[in-house]
Amino acid sequence: MLFLITLGISSWNPNLDSTQPKEYTHALESGRVPFLPHLSFEIAEDERYLLSPKWSDPKAKNISYDPQTELVKHTSATGADKEAIGRMMARYADYAHKLVESLFPAYRRGIRIGRTSYRPAEADGRSSSVRKDDRLLHVDAFAASPVQGERILRIFSNINPDGKPREWTLGEPFDLLAPQFLPKIQRPIPGSSWLLKTLGITKGKRTEYDHYMLQLHDQEKLDSNFQQTCPKRFVSLPAGSTWIVYTDLVPHAVKSGQFCLEQTFYLPVESMQEPDLSPLRKLEGLLGRKLV
Ligand code: SIN
Ligand code: FE
Repeated sequence: MLFLITLGISSWNPNLDSTQPKEYTHALESGRVPFLPHLSFEIAEDERYLLSPKWSDPKAKNISYDPQTELVKHTSATGADKEAIGRMMARYADYAHKLVESLFPAYRRGIRIGRTSYRPAEADGRSSSVRKDDRLLHVDAFAASPVQGERILRIFSNINPDGKPREWTLGEPFDLLAPQFLPKIQRPIPGSSWLLKTLGITKGKRTEYDHYMLQLHDQEKLDSNFQQTCPKRFVSLPAGSTWIVYTDLVPHAVKSGQFCLEQTFYLPVESMQEPDLSPLRKLEGLLGRKLV
């Protein structure tokens, strides 16, 4: 199994040969991680002071930015400092959007930009709970924000100023992972999705797909035997590099690293080049019924 596909791109808005987008999209959708060792996100001289864990809110770890509302959340910064963080994150959101549209032009029509996240804390720190501990292998699923079958595509850039890599592990392919956990997952309780929405626990309906993905995420993290014994590959992602992952498909864990930017995108399954490679279609195939 090849985990990474290394691309020699050094621009956020690259010109590609005509056959490359199709090839890159196929690799990405198949669960490989496009790794761009020469694509760095530049931090301006007067932004260097933003590279400090003191700007994170101790309760949240990650600083978040919403490109739609232009609001920065979960930071201790106020006034001009908060504005500077917002400008840096807005620039990252813009670059990441350009990159996705260049590398995967087929996505232009369906893609929706989500939150930007800035992670100034050391990743190898204490976590509040096992479910929230991203040092354990998992596929992404959001308890409060159901995606209703849409894909979760994330762009990461290591912006560490001291040359420290971000160390990840990647797990086995979804096709091998899902069948191990599905038999242990119960069907959702009838009416639970309505209740979660009515009580305001979820923003929107938690579909059966969201239920299975969330259970998969939780069960993987809670299974210490699985964490220890499952096949995995260690990857070191250098400072100044960028990588792109379908985090709903590729089991991943962060082992260490500090200072990272991440941009999330959502994509309807129908906008994929090969929709059958989506976790939605794979789970529907395994369970023999529609999940959204
Ligand atoms: C995650 O998405 O699970 C965490 C990745 C990271 O912060 O490097
Ligand atoms: Fe994750």
